[in-house]
Amino acid sequence: MNDFVSVISAADIPNGTMKTVMISGIPVALANVDGTFFAVNDLCSHKQCSLGTEGVLDGTVVVCGCHGARFDMGTGKALSLPATTDVATYETKVENGNVWVKVL
Ligand code: FES
Repeated sequence: MNDFVSVISAADIPNGTMKTVMISGIPVALANVDGTFFAVNDLCSHKQCSLGTEGVLDGTVVVCGCHGARFDMGTGKALSLPATTDVATYETKVENGNVWVKVL
């Protein structure tokens, strides 16, 4: 598969919030920042806490709820310890009111 998958209604992720969704067996943290949707692998690269469920958004940065590592939602870059490894990012688009994500 190498195409976008319709994941969720955009209305179900209000501005400033995140959700964890499973796409083709991959856990993905989806975030809405001022109407722009970002998707990164849901598992924190430190100890695999769920970023979408336990993390907190700070603009386009997600702060892991377990030990406070910060990741850029746009690039997946690990911005602060204890995480030292980036997380994968995925392309998103909004079409017909739904958020689409390309994981593969
Ligand atoms: S599991 Fe995310 S900072 Fe430790």
